[in-house]
Amino acid sequence: MSGTAFGVPPDPGGRLVRLAETGREPVRFLLDGVERMALSGDTVLTAILTNVPSLRQTEFGPEKRAGFCLMGACQDCWIWQEQGPRIRACSTPVAEGMRLLTRTREDWT
Ligand code: FES
Repeated sequence: MSGTAFGVPPDPGGRLVRLAETGREPVRFLLDGVERMALSGDTVLTAILTNVPSLRQTEFGPEKRAGFCLMGACQDCWIWQEQGPRIRACSTPVAEGMRLLTRTREDWT
C-alpha cells in the first residue's frame, strides 16, 4: 500500500527512538521549514533523527544519509543552515530556533 488520502505520504517517523532522558527542556527548531521538537542537550543529529528517517540528501545522487560514526570522524553528517554555514550534526548541540536544511539550497549551486 502506498500513500494516503489526498496523495499525502504517511509520516515515516524518526529513525531514532528516545527511550530515556525524556524530561529535559524542549527545544524548537526548523527542519526544511517545518517546526520540529528536540530536547536540550541533543546533538543536531539526534534532534533530526528522532523526527525523520534521514539526516540529509547527498550532494551526488538521490541517496539519503543518516551519519555513520556519530563521533566527528567520518564527515557523513554535514548539514546546512539557512544562514549558510554547514555544521557537523553529530558534534553540534541543537539550539532553539536553528533553521536547518537537509539539502543545499538551489540558489547556492
Ligand atoms: S557521523 Fe561521522 S562525523 Fe558525524
